[in-house]
Amino acid sequence: MADEIKKDTAAKVKVTIDGITTEVAPGTSIIEAARQIGGAVAPPAMCYYKSLEGSGGRCRTCLVEVTQGSAANPRPIPKLVASCRTSVEEGMVVKNITSERVLDARDGVVEFLLINHPLDCPICDQAGECDLQDLSYSHGNEGTRYKFVRRTFILEDIGPYIKLHMTRCILCYRCIHVADQITEKRIHGVMDRGDRAFISTYISRAIDNDFSGNMIDVCPVGALTDRTFRFKNRVWFTKPVYVHRDCENPKCCGKATAWMRGDEIFRVTTRDNEWGEVQIIDGEPAWICNTCRFEKKQVSDWVIEGPATVRKISVVNVNKYRNTIKPKETLMDVMGGLKPNLLMNIRSVSEVNDPDIKLSELNRPAIARDFDIANDIDNKIPENPGNAEKYNSELLKSSTKEN
Ligand code: SF4
Ligand code: FES
Repeated sequence: MADEIKKDTAAKVKVTIDGITTEVAPGTSIIEAARQIGGAVAPPAMCYYKSLEGSGGRCRTCLVEVTQGSAANPRPIPKLVASCRTSVEEGMVVKNITSERVLDARDGVVEFLLINHPLDCPICDQAGECDLQDLSYSHGNEGTRYKFVRRTFILEDIGPYIKLHMTRCILCYRCIHVADQITEKRIHGVMDRGDRAFISTYISRAIDNDFSGNMIDVCPVGALTDRTFRFKNRVWFTKPVYVHRDCENPKCCGKATAWMRGDEIFRVTTRDNEWGEVQIIDGEPAWICNTCRFEKKQVSDWVIEGPATVRKISVVNVNKYRNTIKPKETLMDVMGGLKPNLLMNIRSVSEVNDPDIKLSELNRPAIARDFDIANDIDNKIPENPGNAEKYNSELLKSSTKEN
C-alpha cells in the first residue's frame, strides 16, 4: 500500500499557475490543472469540453502565457498557448489572469467571436446561461469596429426537437463531437471553410437520434435551442432541481435537472458541474436520452431529489434564497467537521486590511498565506492549495485526536 502511495506521488508533476502551485498527473492539460486550483485562475473555455474527446483548440479563449516551459528547460514559450491543448510539464510556470498579454489577447478573441454574433440577448433563449454573454461582460468592448456586412442565416429546424440559429454559432464543434461520440450516427457537420463555414445537416436531414438533445446542452451560445422550451420561460424565472427516473434506455443515466416554475417542468437538461459541463456520475458523463429530455415533462414522471447545485455567479441564483430557503450556516457541518478558522483562514477584518500587505503589488491572486506572512502568524495553511482536500482530512484527523 505504502509503495502504491509512493508511486502515485512520484507520478505527479508540479505546475504553478498565477503563482499558485498544484500537482497533477503527467499529460494533464493546463486548463485542467488550473481548474484543480479553481476560481478565476481557470481560463474560460468556449470550445473545450472535458467529456468530449478531441474538443478544444478552436476558439482561443483559453490562451495562457507559459513563462517557464519546465524545470529542465526553463525558457518561456514565446507565443501564448491554448491551455486546453497544452500539457503541463514538471516545473512549468503559467500566467493566466496575471498576464497583461493574456488579458489583451482574450479581449481580441472576444471581439472576433462577436464579429458575426448578433447582440440579441434580450430575445435569445440562452440568455442568462450563455458563455459568450458572460465573456463579453468580462472582456468585451462597448462598441464594435466591424464595418462589413455580417453573416446571417435563416433559422433551421434540425429534427423535431432542435432549432438551429446559425447566425449565433461560433463554430466551436462541440455539437459535432456529441454527434460523433454520443449518438449512433452523425448527419450534421461543418460545411464549407473559413468565413463561409456553417453548421448544417446534410441536405437538411433531420436529427432524430436518441441522444441528439445533448447537443443543446454543450452549445456555449444560443445556436442550438430546445424547440419544446423556446420562448416558454426565462431561465432565471425557473428553479433547477435534481430529478431521476428509471429510464428504459440502457445508455441513459436517467439523472437530470428539471427546470421548474411552480409545479410545472419547463425543460429537462443534463446535470452540470461548476464549469458548465456535464457531471460525471458513476465514472461516466451523465448524458440523458431524448425521451427523458423532451417527453417527460410531468412531475409524476420523475423522482425529485432536491435543489440543483448552480454556479455561484449565475443569473439562476438571483432571488432564489429569500425568506423560505436559507443556506446552511454551520460551516463545521458543511466542511466535514473542520473549524472555520483552520479551514478558511479568515481572521479579523483589521488583519485582512493590514497595511503591511500590498495586495496591488502581488503578481497573482492573494491567498491566505500572504496574510500569514505579513502578520507573522504560524503558517497553517497548505503549501499547495491544490492538495487542500488531503490537507483538510489530515487536519481533521489530528483535531479529532486532540479532542
Ligand atoms: S451550433 Fe453551438 S455547439 Fe455547434 S458549433 Fe455552433 S456554437 Fe458550437
Ligand atoms: S477552449 Fe481552448 S481553444 Fe477553445
